[in-house]
Amino acid sequence: MIDQASKLRKMIEHKKIYGSSHIHDKSSYSPRIIAVTSGKGGVGKTNFTVNLAIALSRLGKKVLIIDADLGLANVEVIMGCLSPYTMMDLLNGNISLEEIILKGPAGIQYISGGSGLEQLSDLSIEDRSLLIHRLYACEEVADIILVDTGAGVGRNVLDFLIAANEIILLTTPEPTALTDAYAVIKAYMARSTVPNIKLVINKIYDKDEGDEVSLKLRMTAEKFLKVTIKNLGMVYDDHNMVNAIKKQIPLLLSYPDTIASKCISQIANSILHGGNIKIKRNWHDFLHRLIFSK
Ligand SMILES: Nc1ncnc2c1ncn2[C@@H]1O[C@H](COP(=O)(O)OP(=O)(O)O)[C@@H](O)[C@H]1O
Ligand SMILES: [Mg+2]
Repeated sequence: MIDQASKLRKMIEHKKIYGSSHIHDKSSYSPRIIAVTSGKGGVGKTNFTVNLAIALSRLGKKVLIIDADLGLANVEVIMGCLSPYTMMDLLNGNISLEEIILKGPAGIQYISGGSGLEQLSDLSIEDRSLLIHRLYACEEVADIILVDTGAGVGRNVLDFLIAANEIILLTTPEPTALTDAYAVIKAYMARSTVPNIKLVINKIYDKDEGDEVSLKLRMTAEKFLKVTIKNLGMVYDDHNMVNAIKKQIPLLLSYPDTIASKCISQIANSILHGGNIKIKRNWHDFLHRLIFSK
């Protein structure tokens, strides 16, 4: 009885937002919520998130990105489109969830958290619950919600990590990035009861380097924090990433065959089906790296 009533309420709410034509029963279904985070800033979170969203979309998933990196609206720059609204506009009764969701390239959807997320603690209880209720319907439009968080162990970031079902922790092989990644695992472990962290090493130069740092970080976490971190994959340092940013066309669309695109697509596949990365840098990439790094 209770189940039916809540189902009905959900349908009515959905109808209000999207109109009756989109109604389908998803009551037994909830999207995967994956937070993409890092210890150090500038390790490639936002680019990774946008391209991962495109890769997942190509695998048939409906993906919604929530930009939670307060104050840094980078997702929009990378996608090459601008959202007129942020999540906070949902507090204005005249603006619907559909209106604040920006339709990006390759069918990906995007909501800007905006600097308003920082003011969440200033909101009244009524406004907070209104916001939450209006955001509920995100689950109707997405199979996977990717949250691009800020870097570090601040309260704002940790709150997102604790809230998500899964975490992708991104780091580069640099010692400073690795130390900061470890700090994230430690801070998260102090609050989490069911840790679910997967590691991605970004900007690797060769596979051995990636394997080595991944193993080191995971073994240290296992030994000192008693947590098993899964290895999700690696993404090569790829000059086309910078080219794509300059063009404001995401890498997977502007350079679908470049090595970093292949790595990210493989990671999307692993997220959905499991499995390991077996991509090797090709000769062209090797030459580019050698010549452009001089
Ligand atoms: N795989 C990669 N290969 C080469 N450069 C990369 C790669 N990933 C990210 N970058 C570079 O790192 C910079 C920072 O990326 P960004 O996604 O904005 O990081 P974050 O969101 O972690 O601050 C980008 O501007 C780009 O130049
Ligand atoms: Mg970012």
